[in-house]
Amino acid sequence: MRISIDPSLCQGHGRCYDLAPDLFGADDEGYATLLAPGGQVPADLEDDAHLAADNCPESAVLVFEE
Ligand code: F3S
Repeated sequence: MRISIDPSLCQGHGRCYDLAPDLFGADDEGYATLLAPGGQVPADLEDDAHLAADNCPESAVLVFEE
């Protein structure tokens, strides 16, 4: 599984890094950043990735089942 953030959609709501702090961080302005190299999601964090995607009000968290 791989994740990415669409920077054109992210408005800095912060749900992603609150709910999945091992996968997402925040830049100085509160916009989401990816912590996982290349957006690759370890198997034990796949539920967190879905949780973040489901809770982003802007649908800015993208999940790719690869
Ligand atoms: Fe941005 Fe959504 Fe996270 S708006 S900060 S990707 S919850």
